[in-house]
Amino acid sequence: MSSFRGLGLSAWLAEQAQQLGIGRPTPVQAACIPPILQGRDCMGCAKTGSGKTAAFVLPVLQKLCEDPYGIFCLVVTPTRELAYQIAEQFRVLGKPLGLKDCIIVGGMDMVAQALELSRKPHVVIATPGRLADHLRSSNTFSLRKIKFLVLDEADRLLEQGCTDFTKDLEVILGAVPATRQTLLFSATLTDTLNELKSLAMNKPFFWESQAEVRTVDELVQRYLLVPEKVKDAYLVHLIQTFQDEHEDWSIIIFTSTCKNCQILNMMLKQFNFPSVALHSMMKQKQRFAALAKFKSSVFKILIATDVAARGLDIPTVQVVINHNTPGLPKIYIHRVGRTARAGRHGLAITLVTQYDIHLVHAIEEQIKTKLQEFSVEERAVLSILTQVNVTRRECEIKLEATDFDEKKEINKRKQMILEGKVSDVLQPLPPGPRTSTDLSRSTRHPSPLHSCSLSVSFPFEELLFILKGE
Ligand SMILES: Nc1ncnc2c1ncn2[C@@H]1O[C@H](COP(=O)(O)OP(=O)(O)OP(=O)(O)O)[C@@H](O)[C@H]1O
Ligand SMILES: [Mg+2]
Repeated sequence: MSSFRGLGLSAWLAEQAQQLGIGRPTPVQAACIPPILQGRDCMGCAKTGSGKTAAFVLPVLQKLCEDPYGIFCLVVTPTRELAYQIAEQFRVLGKPLGLKDCIIVGGMDMVAQALELSRKPHVVIATPGRLADHLRSSNTFSLRKIKFLVLDEADRLLEQGCTDFTKDLEVILGAVPATRQTLLFSATLTDTLNELKSLAMNKPFFWESQAEVRTVDELVQRYLLVPEKVKDAYLVHLIQTFQDEHEDWSIIIFTSTCKNCQILNMMLKQFNFPSVALHSMMKQKQRFAALAKFKSSVFKILIATDVAARGLDIPTVQVVINHNTPGLPKIYIHRVGRTARAGRHGLAITLVTQYDIHLVHAIEEQIKTKLQEFSVEERAVLSILTQVNVTRRECEIKLEATDFDEKKEINKRKQMILEGKVSDVLQPLPPGPRTSTDLSRSTRHPSPLHSCSLSVSFPFEELLFILKGE
């Protein structure tokens, strides 16, 4: 088995890694570090929790210590929490270097970020939207000299869907030099391989773990067939059972929408479970606070949308419950990969309704593993069914009394405005605390922003209202 020194890293860096429990290289690290040090582009596809972060952080730090300047490396990643986690790895491994890093993500003070960028940090870790905003609006920093561009969760960054990063990535790619080294990592690269290959052109080195099964061996994977209407009772029963049997277990529950995430959290709190929620409709400070509480094991249950599905490394997580069956196998792979990391054991249970069976088949086909049924004591579930359903309904009513749906609408419109898509979608906002702007003027106008007559065709107060709405 190789050592980090043998892979070409300096003694101080190998020593620093050792102190952090990164003693022997994992296969993805052993395979990718040497070609990166040789100056090649790299695409690394390895299972969740297999150490992909250190596979790019270590060689970047090695090269940085040989020729330190700022801005030396740009890391782009899809979620804010993940950006902070990657920055933390750079910070602890690069401590002997006096590494300066800078995190550029949405939901945080843009002016403070601009100031930090102008101070030439060695490494910038960013989410695409906010970094593109800085590039569009400021000339106080430059990415023209970066040596490394890293896309962590590269397939997610390139895929088109509800959160489409492609426009922002175009801006970013236009701002970095062609001579850079490009490093792409994910547990699910293969679907987007062609797009990725066009990004990495410098004698790209592609490494994929050989294992046929795409989830880790230490993960026990189960499904539970439940009628849609009694899903929550099963969930409460499962949590109660885990809590009774294992004092120190942490659980992540994934669900499909922000609203359901919020309702489930309210509901579990009613049952006195120590739970916190994490979804994109929360303010960033609340998101960080929730994650910190969960990471420190003060709260044992995290209920999250797919914003937490990728990359997050929380060693205490023993169980992942999919409250909804993921619509795409790759989402399943990332979700269940939040447990059984770095050789630890873990359990994933997917709640499957009568409508989801084809999704399970697609997942099984992709991961090359058959999920087995998880058995529960149905009588115990039935005994709490009414209580759970009543509590859920109460929580729904409570949430309806807040401005949750309205906030969602505002966020959606804000995004549309920023993307220049307002003309197609404007509908009157639901009633609530707002100005007297007459929206009906704007709903049928062909293309208000493109016509450049914002004040006439698009109500300016509306724009301000929406932009301030967060
Ligand atoms: N060589 C190593 N030896 C032991 N532990 C390691 C090693 N390299 C990384 N780790 C630890 O393994 C854990 C998982 O690493 P990491 O988050 O980089 O996984 P990943 O491959 O990026 O997973 P994901 O696909 O979920 O993002 C981290 O806690 C990390 O500190
Ligand atoms: Mg990762």
